[in-house]
Amino acid sequence: MANNNHSNPQATDSRGRLARSHEKVETNSFLMIVLILAVISVAGLVEIVPLFFKKSLTQPVEGLKPYTALQLAGRDIYIREGCFTCHSQMIRPFHAETMRYGHFSLAGEFVYDRPFQWGSKRTGPDLHRIGGRYSDEWHRQHLKDPRSLRPYSNMPAYPWLADRMVDAETMPRRLRVLQILGHPYTDEEVAGAAQAVEGKTEMDALIAYLQILGTAVR
Ligand code: HEC
Repeated sequence: MANNNHSNPQATDSRGRLARSHEKVETNSFLMIVLILAVISVAGLVEIVPLFFKKSLTQPVEGLKPYTALQLAGRDIYIREGCFTCHSQMIRPFHAETMRYGHFSLAGEFVYDRPFQWGSKRTGPDLHRIGGRYSDEWHRQHLKDPRSLRPYSNMPAYPWLADRMVDAETMPRRLRVLQILGHPYTDEEVAGAAQAVEGKTEMDALIAYLQILGTAVR
Protein backbone atom coordinates (compact mmCIF):
# COMPACT_ATOMS: atom_id res chain seq x y z
CA MET A 1 0.00 0.00 0.00
CA ALA A 2 1.29 3.49 -0.86
CA ASN A 3 2.44 5.56 2.06
CA ASN A 4 0.00 8.45 2.31
CA ASN A 5 2.41 10.64 4.23
CA HIS A 6 4.83 10.73 1.32
CA SER A 7 2.19 12.09 -1.03
CA ASN A 8 1.49 14.87 1.45
CA PRO A 9 4.60 17.06 1.76
CA GLN A 10 2.94 19.40 4.23
CA ALA A 11 2.43 16.63 6.73
CA THR A 12 6.05 15.50 6.35
CA ASP A 13 7.38 18.98 6.95
CA SER A 14 5.33 19.60 10.03
CA ARG A 15 6.51 16.44 11.77
CA GLY A 16 9.27 16.65 14.36
CA ARG A 17 12.52 14.66 14.51
CA LEU A 18 11.07 12.17 16.96
CA ALA A 19 8.24 11.28 14.61
CA ARG A 20 10.69 10.86 11.73
CA SER A 21 12.95 8.53 13.67
CA HIS A 22 9.88 6.59 14.77
CA GLU A 23 8.99 6.15 11.14
CA LYS A 24 12.41 4.58 10.65
CA VAL A 25 11.57 1.97 13.23
CA GLU A 26 8.12 1.36 11.84
CA THR A 27 9.31 0.87 8.31
CA ASN A 28 12.39 -1.24 9.04
CA SER A 29 11.23 -4.64 10.14
CA PHE A 30 14.72 -5.83 11.11
CA LEU A 31 15.23 -2.86 13.42
CA MET A 32 11.72 -3.39 14.77
CA ILE A 33 12.49 -7.05 15.61
CA VAL A 34 15.75 -6.15 17.36
CA LEU A 35 14.05 -3.47 19.45
CA ILE A 36 11.10 -5.72 20.35
CA LEU A 37 13.54 -8.44 21.49
CA ALA A 38 15.44 -5.90 23.58
CA VAL A 39 12.27 -4.68 25.28
CA ILE A 40 11.02 -8.22 26.01
CA SER A 41 14.42 -9.30 27.34
CA VAL A 42 14.69 -6.43 29.78
CA ALA A 43 11.09 -6.87 30.93
CA GLY A 44 11.65 -10.61 31.33
CA LEU A 45 14.84 -10.17 33.34
CA VAL A 46 13.19 -7.65 35.65
CA GLU A 47 10.41 -10.17 36.35
CA ILE A 48 12.43 -13.37 36.52
CA VAL A 49 15.80 -12.58 38.08
CA PRO A 50 14.49 -11.49 41.52
CA LEU A 51 12.72 -14.87 41.83
CA PHE A 52 16.10 -16.64 41.93
CA PHE A 53 17.02 -14.71 45.06
CA LYS A 54 13.71 -14.76 46.95
CA LYS A 55 14.14 -17.05 49.97
CA SER A 56 10.54 -18.23 50.15
CA LEU A 57 10.89 -19.55 46.60
CA THR A 58 14.32 -21.17 46.81
CA GLN A 59 14.58 -22.53 50.37
CA PRO A 60 12.85 -25.73 51.51
CA VAL A 61 9.84 -25.21 53.78
CA GLU A 62 10.47 -26.22 57.38
CA GLY A 63 10.37 -29.97 57.85
CA LEU A 64 10.83 -30.82 54.16
CA LYS A 65 13.25 -33.71 53.66
CA PRO A 66 14.78 -34.95 50.43
CA TYR A 67 13.14 -38.15 49.18
CA THR A 68 14.41 -41.40 50.65
CA ALA A 69 15.81 -43.91 48.17
CA LEU A 70 12.48 -45.79 48.10
CA GLN A 71 10.41 -42.61 47.64
CA LEU A 72 12.76 -41.42 44.92
CA ALA A 73 12.39 -44.72 43.08
CA GLY A 74 8.62 -44.28 43.39
CA ARG A 75 8.84 -40.79 41.96
CA ASP A 76 10.68 -42.11 38.93
CA ILE A 77 7.92 -44.70 38.43
CA TYR A 78 5.29 -41.95 38.75
CA ILE A 79 7.05 -40.11 35.92
CA ARG A 80 7.67 -43.25 33.84
CA GLU A 81 4.00 -44.27 34.02
CA GLY A 82 2.82 -40.80 33.08
CA CYS A 83 0.68 -40.23 36.17
CA PHE A 84 1.30 -36.52 35.63
CA THR A 85 -0.71 -36.61 32.40
CA CYS A 86 -3.88 -36.95 34.48
CA HIS A 87 -2.86 -35.65 37.91
CA SER A 88 -1.54 -32.24 38.86
CA GLN A 89 0.48 -31.61 42.00
CA MET A 90 -0.33 -27.95 42.39
CA ILE A 91 -3.09 -26.77 44.69
CA ARG A 92 -3.99 -23.24 43.72
CA PRO A 93 -4.81 -20.59 46.34
CA PHE A 94 -8.56 -20.63 45.70
CA HIS A 95 -11.18 -21.42 48.32
CA ALA A 96 -12.69 -24.29 46.33
CA GLU A 97 -9.26 -25.92 45.96
CA THR A 98 -8.08 -25.49 49.55
CA MET A 99 -11.43 -26.81 50.83
CA ARG A 100 -10.98 -29.93 48.76
CA TYR A 101 -7.25 -30.59 48.85
CA GLY A 102 -5.84 -28.68 51.84
CA HIS A 103 -3.25 -25.89 52.08
CA PHE A 104 -2.31 -24.42 48.71
CA SER A 105 1.07 -25.48 47.34
CA LEU A 106 4.16 -23.48 48.31
CA ALA A 107 7.24 -23.09 46.12
CA GLY A 108 9.47 -24.20 49.02
CA GLU A 109 7.81 -27.63 49.00
CA PHE A 110 9.23 -28.46 45.58
CA VAL A 111 12.93 -27.68 46.03
CA TYR A 112 13.81 -31.40 46.07
CA ASP A 113 11.74 -32.11 42.96
CA ARG A 114 13.80 -32.28 39.81
CA PRO A 115 11.75 -31.70 37.81
CA PHE A 116 8.61 -30.75 39.78
CA GLN A 117 5.41 -32.60 38.90
CA TRP A 118 2.99 -29.68 38.91
CA GLY A 119 1.31 -30.90 35.75
CA SER A 120 -1.39 -29.00 33.93
CA LYS A 121 -4.13 -31.57 33.44
CA ARG A 122 -6.65 -32.85 35.94
CA THR A 123 -8.45 -35.86 34.54
CA GLY A 124 -8.07 -37.15 38.10
CA PRO A 125 -7.82 -35.16 41.34
CA ASP A 126 -4.77 -33.14 42.38
CA LEU A 127 -2.30 -35.34 44.26
CA HIS A 128 -0.08 -32.80 45.96
CA ARG A 129 -1.49 -33.55 49.44
CA ILE A 130 -2.47 -37.16 48.91
CA GLY A 131 0.16 -38.26 51.48
CA GLY A 132 -1.40 -39.94 54.50
CA ARG A 133 -4.95 -39.54 53.20
CA TYR A 134 -5.45 -43.24 52.48
CA SER A 135 -3.77 -46.38 53.80
CA ASP A 136 -1.04 -48.18 51.86
CA GLU A 137 -3.53 -51.03 51.36
CA TRP A 138 -6.04 -48.65 49.77
CA HIS A 139 -3.40 -47.45 47.27
CA ARG A 140 -2.35 -51.02 46.53
CA GLN A 141 -5.92 -51.99 45.69
CA HIS A 142 -6.58 -48.75 43.80
CA LEU A 143 -3.48 -49.08 41.63
CA LYS A 144 -4.19 -52.75 40.90
CA ASP A 145 -7.83 -52.15 40.04
CA PRO A 146 -9.16 -48.57 40.35
CA ARG A 147 -12.72 -49.65 39.53
CA SER A 148 -12.90 -52.01 42.48
CA LEU A 149 -12.91 -48.91 44.73
CA ARG A 150 -14.27 -46.22 42.42
CA PRO A 151 -16.72 -47.86 40.01
CA TYR A 152 -16.78 -44.94 37.57
CA SER A 153 -13.03 -44.33 37.51
CA ASN A 154 -11.36 -44.09 34.12
CA MET A 155 -7.89 -44.38 35.65
CA PRO A 156 -5.83 -47.19 34.08
CA ALA A 157 -4.90 -50.18 36.25
CA TYR A 158 -1.23 -50.75 37.05
CA PRO A 159 -1.19 -54.35 38.35
CA TRP A 160 2.28 -55.18 37.04
CA LEU A 161 3.91 -52.72 39.43
CA ALA A 162 3.37 -55.31 42.17
CA ASP A 163 5.41 -57.90 40.23
CA ARG A 164 8.40 -55.77 39.26
CA MET A 165 11.29 -55.14 41.61
CA VAL A 166 12.84 -51.70 42.03
CA ASP A 167 16.11 -51.38 40.15
CA ALA A 168 18.30 -51.24 43.26
CA GLU A 169 21.63 -51.14 41.46
CA THR A 170 21.17 -47.63 40.02
CA MET A 171 19.86 -46.05 43.23
CA PRO A 172 23.20 -44.94 44.75
CA ARG A 173 24.09 -43.15 41.53
CA ARG A 174 20.70 -41.43 41.41
CA LEU A 175 21.12 -40.14 44.96
CA ARG A 176 24.70 -39.16 44.24
CA VAL A 177 23.64 -36.93 41.35
CA LEU A 178 21.10 -35.18 43.56
CA GLN A 179 23.74 -34.84 46.29
CA ILE A 180 26.00 -33.07 43.80
CA LEU A 181 23.09 -30.77 42.93
CA GLY A 182 22.81 -29.81 46.60
CA HIS A 183 20.21 -32.18 48.08
CA PRO A 184 21.35 -32.80 51.67
CA TYR A 185 22.01 -36.56 51.48
CA THR A 186 24.74 -37.98 53.70
CA ASP A 187 27.39 -40.20 52.13
CA GLU A 188 25.96 -43.11 54.15
CA GLU A 189 22.51 -42.54 52.64
CA VAL A 190 24.01 -42.56 49.14
CA ALA A 191 26.05 -45.69 49.83
CA GLY A 192 23.09 -47.47 51.44
CA ALA A 193 20.59 -46.54 48.71
CA ALA A 194 20.68 -49.94 47.02
CA GLN A 195 20.12 -51.74 50.29
CA ALA A 196 17.26 -49.40 51.18
CA VAL A 197 15.20 -50.58 48.20
CA GLU A 198 16.32 -54.21 48.31
CA GLY A 199 13.37 -56.59 47.92
CA LYS A 200 10.86 -53.75 47.33
CA THR A 201 8.45 -53.83 44.41
CA GLU A 202 7.72 -50.87 42.17
CA MET A 203 4.29 -50.77 43.80
CA ASP A 204 5.91 -50.39 47.26
CA ALA A 205 8.09 -47.55 45.95
CA LEU A 206 5.23 -45.71 44.23
CA ILE A 207 3.08 -45.91 47.37
CA ALA A 208 5.99 -44.71 49.56
CA TYR A 209 6.23 -41.71 47.24
CA LEU A 210 2.48 -41.00 47.27
CA GLN A 211 2.39 -41.23 51.06
CA ILE A 212 5.02 -38.50 51.57
CA LEU A 213 3.50 -36.06 49.06
CA GLY A 214 2.57 -32.72 50.55
CA THR A 215 3.05 -33.82 54.16
CA ALA A 216 5.58 -31.09 55.07
CA VAL A 217 2.76 -28.54 55.17
CA ARG A 218 -0.68 -29.23 56.60
C1 HEC B 1 -6.10 -41.52 32.34
C2 HEC B 1 -5.95 -40.64 33.49
C3 HEC B 1 -5.22 -41.16 34.71
C4 HEC B 1 -3.95 -41.64 34.82
C5 HEC B 1 -2.91 -41.84 33.72
C6 HEC B 1 -3.72 -41.88 36.22
N1 HEC B 1 -4.83 -41.56 36.93
FE1 HEC B 1 -5.01 -41.60 38.97
N2 HEC B 1 -6.97 -41.04 38.81
C7 HEC B 1 -7.61 -40.75 37.65
C8 HEC B 1 -9.01 -40.47 37.93
C9 HEC B 1 -10.07 -40.13 36.92
C10 HEC B 1 -9.17 -40.59 39.33
C11 HEC B 1 -10.47 -40.43 40.15
C12 HEC B 1 -11.20 -41.78 40.24
C13 HEC B 1 -10.42 -42.77 41.06
O1 HEC B 1 -10.19 -42.55 42.25
O2 HEC B 1 -10.01 -43.80 40.49
C14 HEC B 1 -7.85 -40.94 39.86
C15 HEC B 1 -7.57 -41.10 41.20
C16 HEC B 1 -6.31 -41.32 41.73
C17 HEC B 1 -6.01 -41.36 43.14
C18 HEC B 1 -6.98 -41.10 44.27
C19 HEC B 1 -7.04 -39.59 44.50
C20 HEC B 1 -8.03 -39.16 45.54
O3 HEC B 1 -7.88 -38.02 46.04
O4 HEC B 1 -8.95 -39.91 45.87
C21 HEC B 1 -4.67 -41.63 43.24
C22 HEC B 1 -3.86 -41.76 44.51
C23 HEC B 1 -4.15 -41.79 41.89
N3 HEC B 1 -5.18 -41.58 41.00
C24 HEC B 1 -2.85 -42.09 41.59
C25 HEC B 1 -2.37 -42.31 40.29
C26 HEC B 1 -1.04 -42.76 40.00
C27 HEC B 1 0.04 -43.04 41.02
C28 HEC B 1 -0.97 -42.88 38.63
C29 HEC B 1 0.20 -43.37 37.80
C30 HEC B 1 0.69 -44.70 38.12
C31 HEC B 1 -2.24 -42.45 38.09
N4 HEC B 1 -3.07 -42.13 39.12
C32 HEC B 1 -2.53 -42.36 36.73
C33 HEC B 1 -7.06 -40.71 36.37
C34 HEC B 1 -5.78 -41.12 36.05
